[in-house]
Amino acid sequence: MSGGTSKFQSNNGLVNWVEHRLPIFSFMDAQLNQYPTPKNLNYFWNFGSLAGIILVIMIVSGIALAMSYTPHTEFAFSSVERIMRDVNSGWLIRYLHVNGASMFFIVVYIHMFRGLYYGSYKAPREILWMIGIFILLAMMATAFMGYVLPWGQMSFWGATVITNLFSALPIIGEPIVKLLWGGFVVENATLNRFFALHYLLPFVIVGLIFMHLWALHMHHSNNPTGVEIKDEKQDTIPFHPYYTIKDLYGLGLLLTFFAFFIFFAPNYFGHPDNYIMADPLVTPAHIVPEWYFLPFYAILRAFTTDFFMYIPFAWLMSAKLAGVIAMFASILVLLALPWLDRSHIRSSNYRPAFRIFYWVFVIDCLVLGWVGGQAAEGILVTIGQWATFWYFFHLIIVVPVVGVLERPKALPNSIAASINGAPQAAE
Ligand code: HEM
Repeated sequence: MSGGTSKFQSNNGLVNWVEHRLPIFSFMDAQLNQYPTPKNLNYFWNFGSLAGIILVIMIVSGIALAMSYTPHTEFAFSSVERIMRDVNSGWLIRYLHVNGASMFFIVVYIHMFRGLYYGSYKAPREILWMIGIFILLAMMATAFMGYVLPWGQMSFWGATVITNLFSALPIIGEPIVKLLWGGFVVENATLNRFFALHYLLPFVIVGLIFMHLWALHMHHSNNPTGVEIKDEKQDTIPFHPYYTIKDLYGLGLLLTFFAFFIFFAPNYFGHPDNYIMADPLVTPAHIVPEWYFLPFYAILRAFTTDFFMYIPFAWLMSAKLAGVIAMFASILVLLALPWLDRSHIRSSNYRPAFRIFYWVFVIDCLVLGWVGGQAAEGILVTIGQWATFWYFFHLIIVVPVVGVLERPKALPNSIAASINGAPQAAE
């Protein structure tokens, strides 16, 4: 890793003994203390460390919940109720975990859109970005399986709808669904394997985050100008104390926001039907996933049979399969973003045309989220289809074309120059 140069020294004999055999103290000093960080980072650079802290909160509260939870269809629902009523502070631990999932997605989505705005996915940070996408996929799988565990109506029907999607895949579809279910319907075996995987995946995410940070520390953070560090002395400051303090301030704000939901609106992000025990014989009127899946759910539902008829090669697959492919493609296409974006300017602050399209894209994602939460009828279906079209059109066509045609603004000579108001370099 390319961290700061460590000047680590200690008077403690034990520390020196360990350091001589395993230089962990100088490593931490170089990576977390001296680590040279661009001096112009704004508050959007807080969200990576905030995501890391929420992950820790999720793992700790999750382990505490697991101590009183029973992964069996007969007992799961009542074991959650027992946590809420009888376990000491059980309500707090559960609301921390449930609302923590929403906080995690809010923070990570802001973190991603920060990366999209400042072009943090561009060379040499492509692998850093791609690991981020894998983290997102792992987070989604974890959240999906976690929602099944309380064994409420939405748990059961959400699991049934989403796992059934795989059956649209030719040949491998049916075996995949049976493997997910561990039987022929969503049942006890399904709940058991989801619990096992829900416990496992957060630790996979921890491993991915280490790789994410390793890749980050190879080339250091990007910054609001998108100009690389040229002179370490002029352009950077040590991570500690400058950014540790800034991150702590951000953490204070996040925890206040988080606490509001835990104490005043703990079920705001949830669905009332999940307080009814799962009943395979009663289908809820509207099956909706949690809010953070809604844009993807809208993409899935955009491929209705009548609309699909007008698409070339439609005879090759069913509308359902097209929806499933589009839903997964909407995330996987982000892996190609570093190569789709042809501009060599990173930050949208210097890309006037791209900036407009960026904000249209943000609105498009919000529209998808809104449509995903409504019943699929009338004009909403058409809005969902146009929003889906624009999502892919933006990433596959707008991003490369604007990257080539746009005339960017002049970049500052360096990070230091952008702060000191020194002359701008002609692009
Ligand atoms: C559990 C989830 C995640 C954690 C804990 C995490 C952690 C971090 C941390 C601590 C940083 C450095 C501080 C910062 O730049 O904010 C960072 C940077 C970065 N992350 Fe993440 N991350 C997560 C998910 C993601 C996702 C889903 C993506 C995108 C797909 C992503 C893309 C990036 C990029 C591109 C950078 C470099 C930003 C820059 O230097 O401008 N991360 N991440």
